[in-house]
Amino acid sequence: MSEPLLRVEGLKKHFAFTKGILFARTLGHVKAVDDVSFDIKAGETLGLVGESGCGKTTTSRMILNLEEPTEGRILLEDEPISGLQGAALSAYRAKVQAVFQDPWSSLNPRMKVGRTIAESLIVNDWGDKEKIAARVRELLQQVGLRPEQAEQYPHEFSGGQRQRVALAAALASRPKLIVLDEPVSALDVSIRAQMMNLLKDIQAQDNVAYLLVAHDLATVRHMADHTVVMYLGKIVEKAPTESLFADVRHPYTKALFSAVLVAWPGRSEEEIELRGEVPSPLNPPSGCRFHTRCPWVMPRCSQQEPVLREVSPGHTVACHLFDNA
Ligand SMILES: Nc1ncnc2c1ncn2[C@@H]1O[C@H](COP(=O)(O)OP(=O)(O)O)[C@@H](O)[C@H]1O
Ligand code: SF4
Ligand SMILES: [Mg+2]
Repeated sequence: MSEPLLRVEGLKKHFAFTKGILFARTLGHVKAVDDVSFDIKAGETLGLVGESGCGKTTTSRMILNLEEPTEGRILLEDEPISGLQGAALSAYRAKVQAVFQDPWSSLNPRMKVGRTIAESLIVNDWGDKEKIAARVRELLQQVGLRPEQAEQYPHEFSGGQRQRVALAAALASRPKLIVLDEPVSALDVSIRAQMMNLLKDIQAQDNVAYLLVAHDLATVRHMADHTVVMYLGKIVEKAPTESLFADVRHPYTKALFSAVLVAWPGRSEEEIELRGEVPSPLNPPSGCRFHTRCPWVMPRCSQQEPVLREVSPGHTVACHLFDNA
């Protein structure tokens, strides 16, 4: 077994919820991420899935070192990332890059895209002007754009092309991991597959690992080697993607899965309707956080919190239905 590239151990992020401005009182804590652990191996993709508000972006931001964990550790190549400063922090930023849902968030509208792509190379004194320009042309080609488009501004690109530019910028420093936070959610359905295929091709060429964040299972199915399903800050199911899709166990994952199936008429094997809204993470339900929406809810579900148990090799589930598995 090779060492994981990235290791996340017992990660928590609790945001204080306050009232008042001058003499703010803390009313409680939003447990945005509440004891999350997973590994990502070099060159592999981990899919992180769950409805909006379950803590995916907060997890991503901690991995990107943009947010300090309340508890827990993140290790890249066995080195903890907390407290990184100066050159060590720059080196980390070069190794762990990101592409966000909205490409505008990473593109300066007043900067030619070639300059945006070159930014991390310039910051890291990567080479002279000529060498950097050549690298920018190479990156544009790698993401399926034309080298001369380096001279254009973001508004001259379509949404899909802007996302390709954001990807080229992320690839510039030859990262080991790219955090992809809902990279296709804002794109037209018709061009999503192209972007996903491009991501796959780049991974095959560069051996880069991805943390692929998505709110649906369909997006991760053909991309992720392993999939982690989150609900209200907790992992409810974690498995190699193949074994997850062959044998979905957790009621929440089943509900997410049937939401996919509904989109395929004639495939109504086991449709589960997910009722109600996600409860507030400020006051998460007691016991199993899914008990307010679960079709299989039992008396103990509101009392006792289920822990992750292995149901088959590498496949773990947090649900009382599997207590004696
Ligand atoms: N800076 C913040 N301050 C307070 N609460 C936050 C902050 N960022 C996120 N949250 C809350 O944490 C929870 C998880 O949010 P997020 O990580 O963005 O979820 P997701 O990406 O899965 O939609 C949400 O309830 C959100 O409102
Ligand atoms: S622990 Fe109970 S409420 Fe939670 S998912 Fe399992 S059966 Fe449903
Ligand atoms: Mg998010």
